This record gives sequence, C-alpha cells and structure tokens, in this order.
Amino acid sequence: MNILLVNSSPRKHQACTYQLAQFIIQQISEKIDVEVVEVDAATLPHLDADYAKALSTPDLMYDESSGSLSLSNQLIAQLNKADFIIIASPMHNFSLPSSLKSWVDHVVRAGRTFEITATEKQGLLSNKPIYVLVSAGGRFSGKNAYQPDFFTPYLTEIMATVGLKDIQFFTIEGTVTNRETVQEQIDLLQKQLKNHLESTEISREMPVAI
Ligand SMILES: Cc1cc2nc3c(=O)[nH]c(=O)nc-3n(C[C@H](O)[C@H](O)[C@H](O)COP(=O)(O)O)c2cc1C
Repeated sequence: MNILLVNSSPRKHQACTYQLAQFIIQQISEKIDVEVVEVDAATLPHLDADYAKALSTPDLMYDESSGSLSLSNQLIAQLNKADFIIIASPMHNFSLPSSLKSWVDHVVRAGRTFEITATEKQGLLSNKPIYVLVSAGGRFSGKNAYQPDFFTPYLTEIMATVGLKDIQFFTIEGTVTNRETVQEQIDLLQKQLKNHLESTEISREMPVAI
C-alpha cells in the first residue's frame, strides 16, 4: 500500500499529529506492506508567477521543468500514486496553516486534478481515504467550542473538488487551554484509530509479504 503523509506542522516530527500519523502507519504496516512518501508542507514555497499565469491562460504552453509547475506535477504524482492519505496539521487562525494551503494550491489544479464543466468543478482523481489529524490550542467542535472552524469544512470541500470524498477528521483540542487532557486525548484517539482501521478495508488490501 502506498501511503502519502502530508505534515504541515512547523514543529515537524515533534507534533502530536505527526506522532499519531506514525501510529496509524505502524498499525497498517503490521498487517500489510507499506511504502510511505512524506511531504513536509512547512517547507513548500508559495506559488510563482508562471504557475499563476499557466492556470489563468491554460491555452498557452509553459515550461513545466522548474518552479511551481514542476513542483505541482511532482505533488500531484504523489497524490495519484497514493492508496491512502494522512494529513497531520495544526489549526492556524481558525483554518489551515499557510503551508497546507500551499500544498492545496499546488495539487488542486484545473485540467490536472479537476475540470471545469458548465455546471461544476469535477474531480479527476480516483477516490481514496484521507485521514486528517488536527490539533488545536482551543476548542472548535462540540458544545464547548468557542471559535469558528474553517478548517474541516474547507478541507472537506476542496478535497472533494479533486474527487477525494472519503475524508475523516480526528482532532486533539485544547493543547494550549487544557494541556493536562492532551495525553488522554492521544491515548483515546489511538484506541479509536486502531478500532477504526480494524473495521475498515484500509489495512486489508494485501496479505503480509512473508
Ligand atoms: C500562527 C498560529 C495560529 C494559531 N491559531 C489557532 C486557532 O485559530 N485556534 C486554535 O485553537 N489554536 C490555534 N493555534 C494553536 C495551535 O493550533 C496549537 O498549539 C496546536 O496544537 C499546535 O500544533 P503543532 O504541535 O502541530 O504545532 C495557533 C498557533 C499558531 C502558531
């Protein structure tokens, strides 16, 4: 199984969402062979001028061997090859960190991952599961939420635009305001993820190689 892990925490491997992503990978790799490609979204640049021009004038030819067009091709190829996608991310200012938005801007590309019809934007990627691990300093879901959440509805909508409609969110909230419950939440999520993986097809696609 090919797993694509997109990590957008500036704290990189120290982030609890990254550690949970490793937990998922370990659970799956106990059952089947996995190949993991990791994208450190925190190092992605913003888009360059050629990319912006190419997307707004698609009838012209562009050199795609360098810059954002080349990077976009590479990131789209990773997305196409993946059987399963994990996104590990903090919430920043009620929404995606700009690094994760940069990844989105590189992979959501007219003519490549979606096409524009008379009535809608139609996804061109084959559907595959996405697990999104989100951590937030405060609370954005449930009855104790006190801030808006533009993260989960946005990511749901934009991934569906390219054809990825099987998206699930797993959240750790209150990492700043309720630090004492963070480890409890991680332990609980690990149990939930283990049960979840066992009850889905994700870790049952191929027999373990002997
Ligand atoms: C620039 C910035 C903006 C943030 N905005 C929010 C926010 O809107 N809501 C929230 O609950 N936490 C916010 N936080 C806190 C982080 O979401 C929280 O500390 C998270 O657990 C960090 O995860 P990490 O370890 O992957 O960096 C923000 C943190 C930073 C650095």
